[in-house]
Amino acid sequence: MTISNLRRSVLCLPASNGKALAKLAILDCDATIYDLEDAVAPDMKAQARAALAGHFAAGPKPGVEQIIRINGLSTPWGGDDLAAVAGCRPDAVLVPKVEHARDLAAVAERLDAAGLSGIRLMAMIETPKGVINAASIAEAHASRLCALVVGLNDLRKETRVPRSPDRRVLHPWLMQVVLAARAYGIAPIDAVSNDFRDLAAFDAECAEGRAMGFDGKMLIHPAQIEAANRRFGPSEEEIAAAERIVAAFARPEAAGQGAINVDGEMVERLHLAEAERLLTLASMKRMETP
Ligand code: COA
Ligand code: MG
Repeated sequence: MTISNLRRSVLCLPASNGKALAKLAILDCDATIYDLEDAVAPDMKAQARAALAGHFAAGPKPGVEQIIRINGLSTPWGGDDLAAVAGCRPDAVLVPKVEHARDLAAVAERLDAAGLSGIRLMAMIETPKGVINAASIAEAHASRLCALVVGLNDLRKETRVPRSPDRRVLHPWLMQVVLAARAYGIAPIDAVSNDFRDLAAFDAECAEGRAMGFDGKMLIHPAQIEAANRRFGPSEEEIAAAERIVAAFARPEAAGQGAINVDGEMVERLHLAEAERLLTLASMKRMETP
């Protein structure tokens, strides 16, 4: 299974939903989260694990990062979920409601004991303590942790910030998670948007998430994939600007220069590195859709 660095669209579905599992074959998301936690009712957990085993045995869509969200180890289901993970061998396990580095350590130890050290970790940051401790969580697990995923439904519930399409009051917490993730080379993933019919609002929320520095967005419905792929991928203008920067630094007169003039703007070598990163992302996007 290949792990793509592209995580523009990270689609979540209840592992118990056979129709949704079948639909994945024709969807264009970068990553899939099979949920065993909140989207699966307590009396459906066993069925969800069995459905997941069948899905992985049949072979999920190649090139899509495969993630299983387990229940926390302090719940009655977490242990059985990890046993299901051992059978499925996904790319990553997403741990919900992470509040301390030790919450992830417990999962890592169980995976290691089962000979699954190659499975990476992702953490849901969705409680007040999770946001406050995001940096120490990221620091403690920087080598294995590949994403911090913000969970606003839980965070709103815990903080009593009312539901609203306007996320301005939440910006400080969202940016804190972005900063913690970036400090340790981890991908920050923006929260789900529950209203999957209002695609104009969703498009604007994706643009906001990209502007805040998120790599992509957790999604709940196939209708959200297109906007996430478009908004979190480099735009045509960004690609053109990056190409201009690369070309400018490739000219002989730029040799030995740290800062140059590109169309009336100062551009430094750090911008060259960022332009090259962006063009790599763009080429990954092109490889996907020839
Ligand atoms: N992943 C894959 N396929 C999905 C999907 C998802 N998350 N959500 C819906 N679909 C499929 C449906 O099965 C349906 O397939 P069909 O064309 O073969 O009939 C199609 O997309 C259209 O679905 P629609 O009828 O619009 O929605 P719904 O009423 O079936 O489901 C939800 C709505 C919200 C219940 C469903 O989208 C869902 O469960 N989302 C994920 C919830 C989740 O994971 N929550 C936890 C994280 S916050
Ligand atoms: Mg949650």
